[in-house]
Amino acid sequence: MFIRNCWYVAAWAHEIPEQGLFSRVILGEPLLLYRLANGETVALEDRCCHRLAPLSAGRREGDCVRCGYHGLKFSPDGACVEAPGLDRIPIKAKVRSYPVAVRNRWVFVWMGDPGLADTSLLPDNFSCDHPEWHYQPGYLHYETPYMLICDNLLDFSHLSYVHENTLGGSTRIAQSKPEVERVPQGIRVTRHVPDVPPSAYWRSFHEFEGNVDRWFIYDFLLPGTLIMDSGGRPTGQAEGDMAGAVRLHSCQTLTPETASSTHYFFQQAYHAPAPIPGTTATIFQGLLAAFEEDRSIITAQYRNLLLDPAAPMLPMAMDHALVQFRRLVDSELAKERERAPARPAVVAA
Ligand code: FES
Ligand SMILES: [Fe+2]
Repeated sequence: MFIRNCWYVAAWAHEIPEQGLFSRVILGEPLLLYRLANGETVALEDRCCHRLAPLSAGRREGDCVRCGYHGLKFSPDGACVEAPGLDRIPIKAKVRSYPVAVRNRWVFVWMGDPGLADTSLLPDNFSCDHPEWHYQPGYLHYETPYMLICDNLLDFSHLSYVHENTLGGSTRIAQSKPEVERVPQGIRVTRHVPDVPPSAYWRSFHEFEGNVDRWFIYDFLLPGTLIMDSGGRPTGQAEGDMAGAVRLHSCQTLTPETASSTHYFFQQAYHAPAPIPGTTATIFQGLLAAFEEDRSIITAQYRNLLLDPAAPMLPMAMDHALVQFRRLVDSELAKERERAPARPAVVAA
C-alpha cells in the first residue's frame, strides 16, 4: 500500500505541454494532466467513465477534454458536460479530479482525500527554480518498487562501492557514521567525511589541489523526497570558508508508478550568478551516469527479491535511517487506514 494523503510529483512543469494532453500512471492510477487557458494545471483520472478509454487519447476542446472513443466531454473538474446522443447526462458520468500544486517547476498531485490537501506540506525544492542555482532536470524510470530506491537514498555508504568511480572515490564514506534525526515529515541524515580525495564526478567540473572534507546533509521527506546540501572544502579549511570548495544543492523525488515501478525526478544544482558554459551539462551527465549505477544494482537486487520474496534480510547498523523512514511510512499508513478503512489497496512488494 502507498500513503495517499501527501503530495507526489507527477511531472516536471515543462513536461506538460501548453496545448496538449499529458498522461502518467501514479500509484497505479492513470492520470491526465493539462494546462487551462489561464495557465493553471489540472489533473484528472485518465480513464473515461464510459468504457474506460484513456482521455489522453482524445482531444482538448478549450478547457475541456473530449474522450476519443464515443465523445463524452469533461470539464476541468471531471464532470461530464456533454454526452453525444443522450438526452440527459447520467448523474454518475464523471471522472476523478486531483488537487494539483505547482511549486518550483515540480507538478505535485494529491492522491488522497482532496479535503486534506495542504500546500504547507510541500517540500522546499527552492533550487529547482532559483536564479543563482543552475541544473539540467532529470528523470529516470525504474522497474522496481519505490521503497527500494528510498532505501538506497537513505544510506550513502553505498557511494563507496556502487559509485566508486563516480560520486564516491573513497571507502571512508562507508566507514563514516551519519547522524539521523527526526524532522517534520521525515528524517535528516548528516554525514561528514574528512580528508578524502575529491570524487571523479567533482573533478569533472572543478579543480582541486588536494583532499577535501566532504559533507552530505539531507532531509528525506514523505512520501520520498530528498532535499540535500552537499559539498567538499579543502581539508582543514574552516567551515563557512568556501574558497576552493564545491557546493551542490539537490532535489530528488520518487513517485510510485505501480507497486513494482517508479518515477524518479532529480536535479543537482550548483550556485553561480549565471550558468557556467559546459558545467551544467557536465554535472548532469555525471549525475546521470551515477544514477544508472544505482538503477543497475537496485534492479538486480529486486530480481533477487522476486526469486524468493520470503528470503530474510540481515539488518545492520547502516540501515538505521532507512529503518526509521520505513517506520514513518508504516505509521502514516496506519493513520490512513484508521481514517478510511474501506480504501482500495495497491500492494507494494
Ligand atoms: S469510452 Fe469514453 S466515451 Fe466511451
Ligand atoms: Fe546512489
